[in-house]
Order: sequence, then structure tokens, then C-alpha cells
Amino acid sequence: MSKNVSIDWSKLGFGYYKTDLRYVSMWKDGQWDDGKLVEDNMISISEASTALHYGQQCFEGLKAYRTPSGDIQLFRPDENAKRLNRSCRRVLMPEMPIEKFINACVDVVKANEHFVPPYGTGASLYLRPYVIGVGHNLGVRPAPEFMFGIFCVPVGPYFKGGMAPVNFTIADMDRAAPYGTGAAKVGGNYAGSLLPHREAVNKGFADCIYLDPMTHTKIEEVGAANFFGITADGKFVTPKSPSILPSITKYSLMHLAENYLGLSVEERDCRVDALDEFVEAGACGTAAVITPIGGIEVNGKLHVFHSETEVGPVTKKLYETLVGIQFGEIEGPDGWVYKVK
Ligand SMILES: Cc1ncc(COP(=O)(O)O)c(C=O)c1O
Repeated sequence: MSKNVSIDWSKLGFGYYKTDLRYVSMWKDGQWDDGKLVEDNMISISEASTALHYGQQCFEGLKAYRTPSGDIQLFRPDENAKRLNRSCRRVLMPEMPIEKFINACVDVVKANEHFVPPYGTGASLYLRPYVIGVGHNLGVRPAPEFMFGIFCVPVGPYFKGGMAPVNFTIADMDRAAPYGTGAAKVGGNYAGSLLPHREAVNKGFADCIYLDPMTHTKIEEVGAANFFGITADGKFVTPKSPSILPSITKYSLMHLAENYLGLSVEERDCRVDALDEFVEAGACGTAAVITPIGGIEVNGKLHVFHSETEVGPVTKKLYETLVGIQFGEIEGPDGWVYKVK
């Protein structure tokens, strides 16, 4: 490591921390500039930017991991680049070439190498890429200019004392409209989730589960994570819907379930009145990898899956396999890890 930083890695949570350098590239007159690393963590943009008024923006989240040998690797950054571009297309923003996206991630990690937590702490370096519409503009139309940025923050493991199940309740609000922007990682989806999240927490739950916006009978998302259930006969089942954000963690788990654990995998409806079909359930995403679901409150009754206190065996195995690949302890499928150093 080039510099020393005085961070207590074991105390890291998921909060903002100013690291040394961030990447910025501007789009103007039909093209992105070369981009550069900058020290300033403040942005100066037009007060009339579309990102501020019309939510013309999107973002991503991925992590860099320190391996046992001290190397650093990213997990499937090409998938984040592709999803960013799908989000950009949905809200009429220019796409970022995949190679440029990955190179920018690498530049940011290398420039902040001393903030990549040591192997064995369970902590990692979180990268936050984003595209925002900027420039002077008043009407509802695409911005004249765009900004692409990536900053990074060291973050702790989601579960400090090991994985533990948590309970969820069903939201009575929707996070996405049918045929809306649910499959894009755009800020508006998250603004709309703040209130139902707070209401769930006030009722004593970790977060809320969103049902399909058309019929309110099928599970879509678990807070800002995808849902999966494990059936008694060994199937990994996860909802299929155009208003779910396609989770990179979820598609990775589906591959591992099938190819490493020998489960069969189904993407299909998960009805909230048929939760009995699952003996284990979980939420998955970059932040926690897997959050085991103890129970779900439906119409005032808590439906418990495996246990409210113990993690189910399949959930545990899936978690250990994926985390093992991310930290370089287990050989992953070709192309999943991208060596930074
Ligand atoms: C709404 C939502 N669903 C699911 C996920 C999980 O996606 P991933 O596994 O790519 O982090 C996220 C996080 O990005 C999210 O914000």
C-alpha cells in the first residue's frame, strides 16, 4: 500500500467518507471527454440541471475486494457497465463505453488503493458510478450536457457478527409503476422508497417488500434488493417481472445455485399467498450479498421460513460461495473477477 490511513476497518459501516481521488468525465456536443481523476468532492452544476428537477440521472454500485495475496479485484464490473447503459437509455442519457467504465473503475481503485480494506476484515471498497444531466435547461427535455463520475468509499461487511435473519413487512405503496422505470437504477425509484422504508422500520421491520404494481399479489423487491426462495425439493426460485431491478448478485447466485450447488433455478411468479412453498428465503444485492429473511408479515401475521434466528443451509452455502469468489478464495466462473492489481 502506498500510503497509510488511520481507519478502524472493523468499525466501518456504510457511510460516506471522503477518499483521495474520484473520476469525472463530461459529455458535450455528442461525445464524452477523456475524463480525469480530481481531488474536489464537490460538484458545481447549473441550478437548472435536469438531474435536479426531472430526475434525469442514474447510478451503480459495485465493490473492490482485497484477496489473500493482497491483490485487488472487482466483481463483474462489465455487468454494472451494461446496467448503467440500460438505465441511461431509459432516461435518454448518453451511454458510457464499457471499456471506459471499467478503466475508470480501475483508475479510481488504484488512486485510492490505501482505502481498500485488508483481506480478512470482511470490509471492501464500494464504488459509486453515476451519470447526471447537467447544464442550463428549463423545459422537460434531455439535458444539453452530462456528467459521469465514480467515487469510492471503504465500507464494512453488512453483518458484523455474522449473517443473521431479519423480518420484513409488505409495503402498501409501490416502488415502480407497471412499464415504468423499476428495471432502471434511477434515483426516482429510491426517493419513492424512503417513506415505505421508514414506515416498515417504525413498525419494527428491517424493510418492506414491494409487490407487483399491477396486481399486488406477487413479490417483486425486498427493499433495495431482489428476492429468492428455496423450495423443499431444492429449487432456487426468484421473481420475474419487468419492474424489478435485475440484480447482478441475483444472477450470480442463480448461476452458483445451478452449477456449484446442483439446484434447479426458476425465474417466475412468487405469490405472496403461497409463501409456504419456500423453506428458506433471502434478499440479495451488492451491499449485503444475502440478507436471510426470517419472516414476512402478511396481513398482520408473520410467515416464518427456515427460522427467525438461524440461517438456512442453502442460503449459507450460497453466501459462502459467492463471498469466497469475491474475495478470491474460491475460483469463480470465467470473467467474474477483474484484477485491478
Ligand atoms: C432496487 C434494487 N434491487 C436490487 C438490487 C441488487 O442489485 P445488485 O445485486 O446488482 O447490487 C439493488 C442494488 O443495486 C437495488 O437498488
